[in-house]
Amino acid sequence: MAGPAGVGADGLRRDAGGVAGPSRLFPDAPVVVAPGAVHVPGWLGLDGQRRLADQVRGWVAGAGGMRSPRVRGGLMSVQIACLGWHWSPYRYSRHVDDDDGRPVAPFPDELGDLSRRGVAEAAAIDASLAAPTGGTGGSAGGGAGPYRPDVALINWYGPGAKMGMHADRDEASPAPVVSLSLGDSCVFRFGTAAGRGRPWTDVVLGSGDLFVFGGPSRLAFHGVPRVLAGTADPAVGIEAGRFNITVRQSGLSDPEPRPAR
Ligand code: SIN
Ligand code: MN
Repeated sequence: MAGPAGVGADGLRRDAGGVAGPSRLFPDAPVVVAPGAVHVPGWLGLDGQRRLADQVRGWVAGAGGMRSPRVRGGLMSVQIACLGWHWSPYRYSRHVDDDDGRPVAPFPDELGDLSRRGVAEAAAIDASLAAPTGGTGGSAGGGAGPYRPDVALINWYGPGAKMGMHADRDEASPAPVVSLSLGDSCVFRFGTAAGRGRPWTDVVLGSGDLFVFGGPSRLAFHGVPRVLAGTADPAVGIEAGRFNITVRQSGLSDPEPRPAR
């Protein structure tokens, strides 16, 4: 079962996901964390998580493995593999520019289908996530026509890995971002578009959880201050550590554009 409802002594919202694991038989109800930001705990059941974990391993191998991008403060503690478009701070490319320049691995159709389903289900809970930034209504593509995801970043959080507060703003499209989590739970910090500081909401993201942010929350700052070690269900096929897959619509087309910001 999920933990007690409300905010616990550690300040986490247990009603927004609980700690996933073998004991989470009944996922909590979806939560609108901020306008345009929807958390669906336990969106993927055990079979779906196991299948996605297998696929992720194959996609990572096909991408030539994971690497820690170099950012302003040094190497990121999170390791990343890219599909569809290669992201290296702070631009997209069709080639792995910060390694050997090989072509980026393809964006898998299955991930497109899964994220399309995620956006549709999250938009049924808060339609504003599929609206142009700051607006209401609109198509699932965030005011950019139909939702057409074409890039995925697979993040791996090993021991001690975390991700600082940032906004996903290297995409030219306002379409929502879809996040899927596998393995250990984490604290996911979701703030506002105004800056990386407070106010924010700390949510526990567990294995199988879906989080979609778009519309008024598309450019909100977010990060992962902490992974909750020891919470992974080995039945998923991940003994320890956390995968997160974010699926995005780049809004880019070949030939490569992208001045660095
Ligand atoms: C990200 O913002 O790219 C990753 C978020 C997460 O790991 O949940
Ligand atoms: Mn992000």
